[in-house]
Order: sequence, then C-alpha cells, then structure tokens
Amino acid sequence: MKREYTVVLLLLASISVFGGSSVDSAFIDSLMSVMTLEEKIGQLNLPVGDDIESGTAKGADFEKLIINGQLGGFFNVSGVDKIKKLQQAAVEKGPHGIPLLVGADVIHGYRTIFPIPLGLASSWSPENIKRMARISAIEATADGINWNFSPMVDICRDPRWGRIAEGSGEDPYLGSQLAKAYVEGYQGDDLKSDSTLMACVKHFALYGAAEGGRDYNTVDMGKERLFNYYLPPYKAAVDAGCGSLMTSFNLINGQHSTAAGWLTQDLLRDNWNFGGLVVTDYNSMPEIATMGTSTIEDAAAKSMMAGTDMDMVSGLFVKYLKRSLTEGKVSMDMIDRACRRVLEVKQKLGLFDDPYKYCNSNRADKELFTKSHRAVARDIAAETFVLLKNENKLLPLNKKGKIALIGPLADVKNNMCGCWAMAGEHVTVLDGFRRAVGKRADILYAKGSNIYHNATVQMNGSGIKPIPYVEDEDGLLSEAMMVAEKSDVIVAVMGESSEMSGESASRADITIPDAQRELLKRLVKTGKPVVLVLFTGRPLVLDWESENIPAILNVWFPGSEAGDAIADVVFGNKNPEGKLTATFPRSVGQIPLYYNHLMPSHPDPDSKVFNRYCSNYIDCSNEPLYPFGYGMSYTEFKYGKPELSADAMERNGSIRLSVDVTNTGNMDGTEIVQLYLRDVVADIARPVKELKDFAKIYIPKGETRKVEFVITPDKLKYYDSELKYRYDPGEFEVMVGSDSKNLQTMKFIVK
Ligand code: NOJ
Repeated sequence: MKREYTVVLLLLASISVFGGSSVDSAFIDSLMSVMTLEEKIGQLNLPVGDDIESGTAKGADFEKLIINGQLGGFFNVSGVDKIKKLQQAAVEKGPHGIPLLVGADVIHGYRTIFPIPLGLASSWSPENIKRMARISAIEATADGINWNFSPMVDICRDPRWGRIAEGSGEDPYLGSQLAKAYVEGYQGDDLKSDSTLMACVKHFALYGAAEGGRDYNTVDMGKERLFNYYLPPYKAAVDAGCGSLMTSFNLINGQHSTAAGWLTQDLLRDNWNFGGLVVTDYNSMPEIATMGTSTIEDAAAKSMMAGTDMDMVSGLFVKYLKRSLTEGKVSMDMIDRACRRVLEVKQKLGLFDDPYKYCNSNRADKELFTKSHRAVARDIAAETFVLLKNENKLLPLNKKGKIALIGPLADVKNNMCGCWAMAGEHVTVLDGFRRAVGKRADILYAKGSNIYHNATVQMNGSGIKPIPYVEDEDGLLSEAMMVAEKSDVIVAVMGESSEMSGESASRADITIPDAQRELLKRLVKTGKPVVLVLFTGRPLVLDWESENIPAILNVWFPGSEAGDAIADVVFGNKNPEGKLTATFPRSVGQIPLYYNHLMPSHPDPDSKVFNRYCSNYIDCSNEPLYPFGYGMSYTEFKYGKPELSADAMERNGSIRLSVDVTNTGNMDGTEIVQLYLRDVVADIARPVKELKDFAKIYIPKGETRKVEFVITPDKLKYYDSELKYRYDPGEFEVMVGSDSKNLQTMKFIVK
C-alpha cells in the first residue's frame, strides 16, 4: 500500500478527543468473546432501508438479516414505529440482542427544514448552526434515528459541483468553525441523552475538489494544498469529538479514498487520534474495483486494511471478508477492531442500556415541526440571505400598491428547501407575501416561465420534487406580462429549482436557466422596478443580472419557512446580514476562482484594462462578480482606521487589532467584520490573504462599536514543504473590512 505522507505525518502535532461518554471495555470484551466470526462481520454491514417502506417481501428479508446477525444498523427508514419493530427484532431475536444503529441524512433539518448548509454558512454564525443542529437532533431522535450523516465539510472552489450546496463554501477557517458547531449541536454534551445524535463528518476526503466540478470525478492534490486548505475542517470536526466519519467516492492521486490507508489509518487514526467509527460512502467499496485499484473480491480487504469499519450498502464485507481472512489479506485483529468500534459507538449512544431510547412515539407526536422550531427556522433563514445589489434603495419594499410576484419558484410548495429535505408542503413566497401585506397591498401572481425551455433538461434537474413542465410557454409569458403591466413593482422569484444542486447535480452553465433569464429581460423592459429574489444552491454567474436588475436578494433555499422569512426581509421587518462564503464568478471560464489564491507569476496590476504578459484573460477580468465575504445591508457601515497594539509581535506573543465600525444608515443592522492575514515571505508561497477571524456585531443606527481581534501564533501557522506546522519571523499584512475585497491593510513584524 502506498503511504505517501507517512513519514511527515509522524512529525505532525495531534490532539483529538472522542466525544460523548466513555466506553466499558470489559462489557465489549465479554460480548465479543461469545460472538462468531460471522456475527462480528455482520456488525460491519450497513444496508439502506428506504425500500422496506412498501414491501413485505423486502421488509421480511431485512428482518431476516437482523435475526441472522448480518447487519449492525441500517439507514433511511423513517417512522418511529417501523424503527422500533426492527430494533425489537435485533434485541429479541438477533444474536446476543445487539441493538442497531439507525442512520439518516439529516442535513439541514429533519421535519422543520432550515436553509441549505451553504446558506447557513452565509450567516457566519456558529451559534445558528448549533441551534439548527440541536433542533435537528431533537426531531430526528424523536423519530427513531440515532446517527446522522452530517456535517459535510468538503471545501469547494468550483460552483459547478452541485454538492457545494451541502457544505460551508470555500474557506478552511470558517469551514472549521462551522464544522465544530455542527458536531457540538448534534452531539451535545452527552451522546447518551435520548435527544442527541451521533454526527458523521464527511466525505473523507477532498470530495469537493472533483475535477471540472463533475460529481464523483477524480481528485489530484498536492500535499501543501491538501494540508493547508482542504483538511482543516475535517480535523476540526474530529477535534470537536465527532463520533464517526464517512469516506468519499473519489480517487485521490489515483487511489480510492475508501482504500487509502495513508488517509484513514495513518492520518486520521494514528495522527489525529480519531477513535470513532469509519463508514464507507454508499456503495463506494465495490468502486475501489470499478475505478481500477482492486479486484472485486479484494475490495473489502483493501477497504478494511485502510481503516474502515462499516460498509454502507455494498454488502462486500459480508460477502468477502471471511475469505480474505483465510487468504491472509486481512487479520482477525482487524475484523475485531472494526467490530469493537461499532459496538463502542452503540455503547456510547446508550443503546445497550436502553435499545428503545430513541423509539418513543409520544415524542414523535409532540416534538416534530413544532411552532417553536419553525420560529427558529424562520429567524435563521432571514440571517442567511445575501443582498447582492440594491440600487437606489429599492429594497425594502413598502407594503402598498400592486406588487407582482412573477416566476416559476414563486409558488411551489415542494421546492423551498433544496437538496436533502423530504418533499413537503412548505411556505411559498406567495403565501409569505400575502400574509405579510394583508390588506395593505395587492399581491398579483404569475408563474411566467418554466425552469428551462427544454423539458428534458428541466427533468434532469429534478428528482423527487419536480416542477411540472408547461407546454404552452407563450401562454405563461403573456400572462406574466399582463400581471407585470398592472403592477407598481415586480418581484421576480427565480433561479435554480431544488434539485439542480446537491448530489449528482453538476452544471456546466451556471447562469440563471434560459427560460427564466428571458422572462427577466422582458420584465425589465416594462420599465418597472424589478427585484430579483434568487433561489440557488450554488454561486451563479449573474453577469447580465448584476448589470440590469436594480435589486438582487439571494435567498439560497431557505427551508420550510421560506416564504415568511423572505417576506420578513423584502418588507424590511428584518435587515439582511448574510455574506457569501463562496465566490460568485463573472464567467464559468474563471473557475476555479477563490479569494485565498496564491500570487501568480506576472501578476496583473490592474484588472480594469487588459495588460499583455500578465496573468489574466483577454476577454474577462480576473475579478469575481461578488467576492467571498460580500453582502450588503439596508443600512451602511463605516469603518474607522484600524489600530494595532504594536508594530511587532514577540515570538509566541500576540498582537491586537481594533477598529471602530459605525452604523451610518437609517436602520439598525448587523455587520460581519472580517480579519485577513498574509505572510509576506514564507517557506512556501502563502495566499494573498486568508480569513483568520470574524465578528458578527449588531449596531443600532447612529452608533459605533469597537471590534477587537487578537492575533496569536496559531493564526500565522501553515504546513510547510515538509508538512511541518510553523510560522515565520518577518513581515505580515493584516487586513480588516467588510469583505475579502473591501479591506484596510496594515503591517506588523513577527520577531
Ligand atoms: C451518498 C452520499 O454521498 C452521502 O453524503 C450520504 O450520506 C449517503 N449517500 C447516504 O445517504
């Protein structure tokens, strides 16, 4: 096995904690002493259970597997009664009465749905993420689930990748803060509590770096980039005590991540001291063979050798491990170790004390989709919206006159939540607007267009939540124009439908789909003011819109309370405060485009004009359309001159930066103040800037707040060419401001 980074890994400092309650090894020893080899291997099997819903045949098989001791858990079964029956089969009829893990993808809410993770990240609030995760844990455990396949912390610099929606964006620092918050929110202080879920950080590793933004595609990655930009959020989740981890689907430098021993065994387990459970991703084990790095017969052994414990879906552990043991390709120790880890997490969840602790149907009736959970979801959603443009303060709108709500996303109850949310009846923008204005204004509505002109492409971007395609596109358009003509102001509700992002939803063209862009152009031609309320699961190329639409409010997918949350912001009950965590490019051709890039050779001195022999494009600026960290407010914030507590920092010392921020506008508001650093001369080139801290502060109108950041050595450190984690003496630039472009720069020396 190729263990590329082994030597340097041994040099790395490592501290990690395994969250939750302690393990009673004597209990596990004695249980394992009576288990057969087959039963131990059975514990490593994690089949998917979504199709047992309808089938007695399949359901019966499933129960048979349990009774034969051929599974350690299952996932994607919903409903506490159904889960309880399966748990009962395991405890009452299965060998040794071993309870089951019950997994699910509770990615941004269970029944009460919150904004997609990329939206949640835009609130730059670990607190919001924790509240969301806490409520998700309460609801999911009330419905029988004890293990959650979240958070996804894959850094992504390519918005063509649909799964950018499921993560926190492009930045390792922010991504790490939020990874920790997810884990703390799901797991709480006590994994044994009946309202906490075991978290599962995924996808280890580098799934977000798929070539061309095409899902499941190859990843090639140098070690400096890997350690400095991609690994930190996984490490942060592990350090926060995350109970489990999922491998990924992709190759990394030609090796399948599910069979990469340098990654799972050497780095994760030996170096980061991760003591939890490692599960493969859905059927990724046989793909070790499909992708050309094993025979199918050896894939299970290779995966186990690499350090995985549980096989999601493929069944290859059950099929081949015994044979691999006979052939000497795995050892009994390895099988024992994996089985022990499965039993340990069951113990940590308290399942041996009470296997039915997550199966209380009284809770399911009372704790799902409650008024108070929905109120939190509505508040959080409003904090995730990013105001991209607001010419002449068109927003907020007054609740008066005739407001036209036009677009294929204005009134679709099943499309408010984005990927990974059960289909459901949720508050649409039309519902929300009508409720918000009451009798004070008229809300007129027209669908206006399909998502795409092409019905097949529209279908490709739909899964379980399709928006019906309307053949009479001219009819849709003329109805919309009639409505627009009658109105005083037009609110266009457009963008991506729910399943145009998420898994298996890569796009080559990330503009607003053609049918909607044409409609938007027609609406602008009426000469009426147009507000674009943009639904999207990824950064889009808004080149035309940014020039021609006076106000753009990006709402991502806000979740079950979408319509009310959007109305809260559009009508000014709440002031937008979200900021982008992934760069919005001007053109797909600029991708990958990210703020924390290295200095190129021949840097371009001025991106407004073309400079030959500089690193640029003849037909497009290097600049993003909307940079990382960007987002407007209905009020204005003015930054004073920042001050440093000293010009030089002692080795192992610290230095403080403070800056006054004044709300000079007419509305109370919240600003996200950002701190970036640059190491001017280093062992390997360091980015032109890197986010190292931020503060989210509420400032009443007319008032000033002083914001202070403490710069400590950990903010200066990086992995060098030998993967030593270090910081350098010499000059540093420190930048503070409202986004990654709008910054004031100062310098200090590190002694
Ligand atoms: C495949 C996805 O990649 C992963 O994120 C998810 O948790 C599993 N399927 C289970 O649904």
